[in-house]
Amino acid sequence: MTKNVKIAPSMLSADFSKIGEEVKRIELAGADMAHLDVMDGVFVPNITFGIKMVKDMRKCSSLPFDCHLMIVNPEKYVEQFALAGADYITVHFEACKENTESVLKQIKSLGKKAGVVINPNTEVENIQSLLPLCDMVLVMSVYPGFGGQKFIAEVLDKCRAIRRLIDENGYDCILEIDGGINEKTAILAKQAGCDVLVAGSAVFNAIDAGEMIEKLRCKE
Ligand code: DX5
Ligand code: ZN
Repeated sequence: MTKNVKIAPSMLSADFSKIGEEVKRIELAGADMAHLDVMDGVFVPNITFGIKMVKDMRKCSSLPFDCHLMIVNPEKYVEQFALAGADYITVHFEACKENTESVLKQIKSLGKKAGVVINPNTEVENIQSLLPLCDMVLVMSVYPGFGGQKFIAEVLDKCRAIRRLIDENGYDCILEIDGGINEKTAILAKQAGCDVLVAGSAVFNAIDAGEMIEKLRCKE
């Protein structure tokens, strides 16, 4: 409980008409990384942005870019996201299934941090054997597609289970949670062992983004 959590504001809730200024704004506000939600309208029922947007944002910020790919066949695009300036690239188990291991290896071979994402209804058993390969595991606490949804508290058990697996085996892997994080739910995620909290609407709808980022850290 003493360790600090990192905050990754999700650019999904930013004003896309001034995305460069928005990523600079959260960097100055004290964000630890920028979470970039890439949606293809097939894996999820929404469309956001792609490779060029990541590349153009890269010119505006030196924050680590955490690219959450909500797309089918991510193996076709991970190299382009890597070249565009992603630092972490995470892919959904539900999109890759039996290919997940090879996509994670592909991301690592590009010199980037690789992560697997699981939806609220996907069990930890599906990804347990992949943990030694992962630099990050992302647990979704909403069904992906949209910002501003309600936190699904049932996923906290999975966070605790993954935390235990990482610690007991000494894996070099961080645990991230995404969806519905606000002043009330941040502490629950922290107590369940998450290292990084993604927060979209909480940060971008706040009057003072810096103050909100500090609150979400839940420092004792
Ligand atoms: C949902 C995205 C999230 C989302 C979080 O598909 O992966 O990153 O933007 O937004 P909030 O924090 O508003 O739930
Ligand atoms: Zn996300």
